[in-house]
Amino acid sequence: MHQLCKATDIAAGSAKGFEVEAHALFVVNQGGDFFAYLNNCPHRGIRLEWQPDQFLDYERNFIQCATHGALFSVENGECIAGPCPGEKLTALACTLKDGQLWVELPKVTS
Ligand code: FES
Repeated sequence: MHQLCKATDIAAGSAKGFEVEAHALFVVNQGGDFFAYLNNCPHRGIRLEWQPDQFLDYERNFIQCATHGALFSVENGECIAGPCPGEKLTALACTLKDGQLWVELPKVTS
């Protein structure tokens, strides 16, 4: 597990991007629950955001890809609208411990 930041660094209804050991990822705080995903849109395999830490749609209900507007469920990363319906963001295990957020990085296979 890798320590990311304090839980209070990500306000409810917002998200934050990180670079950890060559992995781009982001964490969403939805009402005090934290969800982590690789920053990689399943449509084209590129990053989701154009602006730093802007991963959510206008109403902050969904994760949104800035390139073609795909919307993803915050809870499970599934695309529910846009060009890749049914495809999923890669979820990462995210744990809150002593006020700190920890994330499990994917295993690197070579
Ligand atoms: S690259 Fe994300 S919706 Fe097309």
